[in-house]
Amino acid sequence: MDADSYVDVPKDLLKEIERLEQLFSIDTAKLKQITDHFVNELEKGLRVGGGSIPMNPTWVMSFPTGYETGTYLALDMGGTNLRVCQITLTDQKSEFDIIQSKYRMPEELKTGEADELWEYIADCLMQFIETHHGDTAKLEKLPLGFTFSYPASQNYIDEGVLQRWTKGFDIAGVEGHNVVPMFEEALSRRGVPIKLTALINDTTGTLIASAYTDTKMKIGCIFGTGCNAAYMENCGSIPKLAHLNLPPETPMAINCEWGAFDNEHKVLPRTPYDEMIDRDSPRPGQQAFEKMIAGLYLGEIFRLVMVDLHDKQGTHIFDGQDISALRKAYSLDSSFLSAIEEDPFENLSETADLFQNRLGINPSKSELELIRRTAELIGTRAARLSACGVSAISRKKGYTSCHVGADGSVFNKYPHFKSRGAEALREILDWPEKTNPNEEDPIEILAAEDGSGVGAALIAALTLERVKAGNM
Ligand code: GLC
Repeated sequence: MDADSYVDVPKDLLKEIERLEQLFSIDTAKLKQITDHFVNELEKGLRVGGGSIPMNPTWVMSFPTGYETGTYLALDMGGTNLRVCQITLTDQKSEFDIIQSKYRMPEELKTGEADELWEYIADCLMQFIETHHGDTAKLEKLPLGFTFSYPASQNYIDEGVLQRWTKGFDIAGVEGHNVVPMFEEALSRRGVPIKLTALINDTTGTLIASAYTDTKMKIGCIFGTGCNAAYMENCGSIPKLAHLNLPPETPMAINCEWGAFDNEHKVLPRTPYDEMIDRDSPRPGQQAFEKMIAGLYLGEIFRLVMVDLHDKQGTHIFDGQDISALRKAYSLDSSFLSAIEEDPFENLSETADLFQNRLGINPSKSELELIRRTAELIGTRAARLSACGVSAISRKKGYTSCHVGADGSVFNKYPHFKSRGAEALREILDWPEKTNPNEEDPIEILAAEDGSGVGAALIAALTLERVKAGNM
């Protein structure tokens, strides 16, 4: 639906809808231009000196065969929850058993003290082990894959120097430091019988877990609180590792950290709302791409648009209503936008209820139209931009046909995210229209296996095998 199709919408609102459409729409030519720049930036990140995309070597150096075995713990510190899993990779090819517990990640920990964070994590791990193993004193140390989903430099798989916090985290004294000793100290203070085997990123976990059950999987993506991807590179194409003299065909998974794409603001069509998000974030100037796509920001972009329209001279949105609840930063998450986009009713009655119950605002009929269109524009832009990243990696690697494993709340729950992303891939990569709707696209983005659980366990298993074989 575009602005022309609205009937009974007053002129001032119509003008705003048109303005928002211009701001948030990205046509095919622009998608292609972004993708071209993205390919160059991926290359640049692999060079000595690098670029704005970190392209971090992860020391995950093979795909699983499906015959890995053993029992491993996995700890997932994403942006929203903390999850502890115990995964047993069984003798049956590509089969596993999993038990898991989720712990809420208290909001204040994200901007608190480093010690409190590590203590909290150690406590959760201890609680998990006591519940599932009983007396911890007699236990041999269990191997752990720690999914630490932030940009980290690694010279080895069991270390990680935090480059910078992302996803709204802001804990002093961690950036620039190896997080593993901090984590291990907290474990030993608490007497938790665990040995960290591998520190991994959620995207690398997703790549490996997906490839475990589907060998066509070549890229792992997260579209959740944050947004990022990993893929398998050859060491010969990573100039910044040349000094290690690894055989050129040696595989090395790269955690792109593509959220940092275009931090220099060369190609992304940022709106004044994106600029506001950036300015008020704990790390202005960072994660330009992520701030337009990830779940942490979608609701906030929407909120900023609504507040702006209300405050602006000449538009009369929510006129005379108390919008104080709407003024609270980060009060709307991406599930709020999902609910608006999912409203099945012609009269948008569910959206009206949502505004009434959550914000104490009663939108008029035409305001509801504007609300729905704004949500659509923000959600569509996110899906289309994410396709630029997937196309760029595929182009860089010369993949014309493959599967991409994706996980995260936006991918799994945001309405139409998948179909909008698929449509944008088709436009960018110039695929002909499908003749049969059931036909697969050459590159399909599919729901991934659990990367931070099964993926972390597999990477721990692959690491221990490599150590046993005496290779690094
Ligand atoms: C952020 C993190 C990155 C992670 C992504 C998805 O971009 O920097 O490491 O993979 O969020 O969780």
